Amino acid sequence: MRIIVGVSGGIAAYKSAIVVSSMVQRGHQVQILMTEGATRFIQPLTFEALSGRPVGVSVTDQPAGPISHVKLGKWADVLAVVPATVGIMSRLALGEPTDLLSLTYMSYRGPVVIAPAMEPKMWLHPRTQEHVAKLAADEAQIVGPVEGHVASGDEGMGRLADPEFLVRAIEHAPIPKALSGIHVLVTGGATWEHFDPVRAITNPSTGRMGFEMAQEAAFLGARVTYIHGPRGADFGTLHPSVTSIPIVSAKEMRDAVWNIAESASIVVAAAAVSDFRPISPAKQKLHKSEITAHWDVTANPDILAELGQEYGGRKFLVGFAAETDNVVASAQSKLAAKHLDAIVANPVGANLGFGHWEHRAQVIDRFGGNATINEESKEISARKIWERLVDLFYREPYV
Ligand code: CTP
Repeated sequence: MRIIVGVSGGIAAYKSAIVVSSMVQRGHQVQILMTEGATRFIQPLTFEALSGRPVGVSVTDQPAGPISHVKLGKWADVLAVVPATVGIMSRLALGEPTDLLSLTYMSYRGPVVIAPAMEPKMWLHPRTQEHVAKLAADEAQIVGPVEGHVASGDEGMGRLADPEFLVRAIEHAPIPKALSGIHVLVTGGATWEHFDPVRAITNPSTGRMGFEMAQEAAFLGARVTYIHGPRGADFGTLHPSVTSIPIVSAKEMRDAVWNIAESASIVVAAAAVSDFRPISPAKQKLHKSEITAHWDVTANPDILAELGQEYGGRKFLVGFAAETDNVVASAQSKLAAKHLDAIVANPVGANLGFGHWEHRAQVIDRFGGNATINEESKEISARKIWERLVDLFYREPYV
């Protein structure tokens, strides 16, 4: 992709270097335009080295050729402003092209991503909000700011969204919102079945896959409810269309799922639900000598199988199956037994799956298809899994 990254003059300007570096590593061509103010926070040389291209700063002194704002407007697939200060947002919203970046913005027609970062009071000022509304009306995607610590030492809404999240938002800007208007329910992470407040049956699932499936669905335009075990959402900026519901045990997950499922059209069960739970958990910490008295366990409900009973054929149901052997055959039998539309089979071995970054998956569907997604980051795997799921979902009308 060909991306213009506009950098305006705020403390968060240094973070745009991380965004640019990551975009270049992901194979994109990046052209940087800086405002004069931005050059006081970070040197153009940094961006030249990262992007391998001359940086555009001044309107009157545009380097010949590639950085003419008119040519650039035609060249780019996406224009992103990272970070966007109150000043640049005002100039873009009001059409005051007094710098190379806003001049280029006006010569360009295509997806725009704006990532504001400023003091919370400035963000909440009515003028800023008017400009944000104008930019949004022009179909710019406003990404952030997010809640947190800002440079003045205050806490509030004003922090730049995580660079990783911005990279994803920029890459998604030209991709059609295939799940727009769809409510997607995703489960993720391990459940914890406590014997007492400090001991539990659980498993090494980090929750990353469910998190990425939830995020990706949101980037595709869905409204997402993400029900997850402890720490299953601790992976950076959460997409604003994702509602995160933390639970601890399988029973809590089941209750939360049934509260939501009726309104969802797609359910993706990526949670690693503990198969068993202690029959009589203790409210206080047990002493070693007392533990064996609480040792007995009972089977947990199979949340996805129950959903399959009720909604199989009516809602689009997707399971995940981590398997160490007979991967495809085991996944196929779970697909049939739980009345699913598709199941994502993951081989789990010494270096794959649970807690490991590499990820390999096969999306097996009830139409007899089997698509392999090779070792990628979980983020990219989630994107490819969704590409396949979207295709399957639209084959038949679901509620
Ligand atoms: N699942 C669930 N509730 C459970 C167990 C599993 O919703 N109590 C879901 C998982 O989220 C996953 C799918 O069912 O989408 C398959 O999970 P897995 O543990 O592989 O399947 P099991 O049916 O428990 O089979 P196994 O005997 O291999 O553990």
